Amino acid sequence: MPTQPPPEGLLTVLRQLNAETFVSGDELGQCLGVSRATIHNRLNGLADLGLVVQRVPGRGYRLAHPVSWLDAELLAASLGPAGFQVRLLDRVGSTNSLLLEWAQAGCEHRTLLATEWQTRGRGRRGRDWLAPLGGGLAFSLLWRFQQRPLAELGGLSLAVGVALARAVEDLAEAAPVGGLGLKWPNDVLCQGAKLAGILIEVQGDALGPATTVIGIGLNVHLSRTARASLDQPVTDLADLLGYTPDRNRVLTQVARRLDVTLGQFEAEGFAPLRQEWQSRNVHQGCPVRIAGYQTDVVGHVLGVDTDGALLLDTQAGVRRILSGEVSLRELPA
Ligand code: BTN
Repeated sequence: MPTQPPPEGLLTVLRQLNAETFVSGDELGQCLGVSRATIHNRLNGLADLGLVVQRVPGRGYRLAHPVSWLDAELLAASLGPAGFQVRLLDRVGSTNSLLLEWAQAGCEHRTLLATEWQTRGRGRRGRDWLAPLGGGLAFSLLWRFQQRPLAELGGLSLAVGVALARAVEDLAEAAPVGGLGLKWPNDVLCQGAKLAGILIEVQGDALGPATTVIGIGLNVHLSRTARASLDQPVTDLADLLGYTPDRNRVLTQVARRLDVTLGQFEAEGFAPLRQEWQSRNVHQGCPVRIAGYQTDVVGHVLGVDTDGALLLDTQAGVRRILSGEVSLRELPA
């Protein structure tokens, strides 16, 4: 998917569209005070951004799939009472980068910054994070740990993975969610395909209170074009749940689960979440290769330690692999 940002004003046009009725270029133009040609130009090339808009000459435009745009009022109503400060921007470089800046400027604990489009979304290990317009969630949460210094945040990304998995199960409303699992240190997968990624960035002293920015990218409904343009197997909530959930509802559910899980992590660390994480571990007992250290480490996954370190049974004995800029690949059994 290209990283070209959607043109200025595009979201205002898109918010007028739905997947049932056609809206003419004239009507859209009048509504927004621009010409029909401007509308045409703004909607041109949208498939490149992962969103399919159908155009039928003489009838107008409509979305190929319904999209639930993020709604600041709805989110404030659902998350405000729980203590979240919700900020929504149509577009931003990276929600993590901006929230890190805001954190340094003293922004409040539990600020949640979401966006419809990131021009420089960042993934782990220096990768880009590309998400289709209207098809995923990209947001970051500022969490200030008062009682937990940086040195004690080892299992944080695993705890966030547990919160995400629980939120997905909430959305399934009691139906079993087959194939949902966690990959060390911080991917949420379904049948081996990526559903969500987590990027945690920290500020603070090793021994003092820690400020964290927890960035989450979650696939909600990816068009075929969007899937084809991504460089790894991906899946989305629509596939998993059998329906496309409202993105505001998904964000609300994830934030609520994060709130509870991070509260528990602050008080007790990763240890109480360890068993659940292991029960969701897609590589439990599997042979894997860890790359990113000076030399690769090969072994069978025994599980994770109480601080989130991966425990590998290697030829040289049990090794603890600390999370960081490493990658894990499954090997043939
Ligand atoms: C990964 O799996 O590589 C982590 C992806 C994290 C992506 C999210 S999207 C919101 C937040 N802002 C960013 O720039 N990245 C994270």
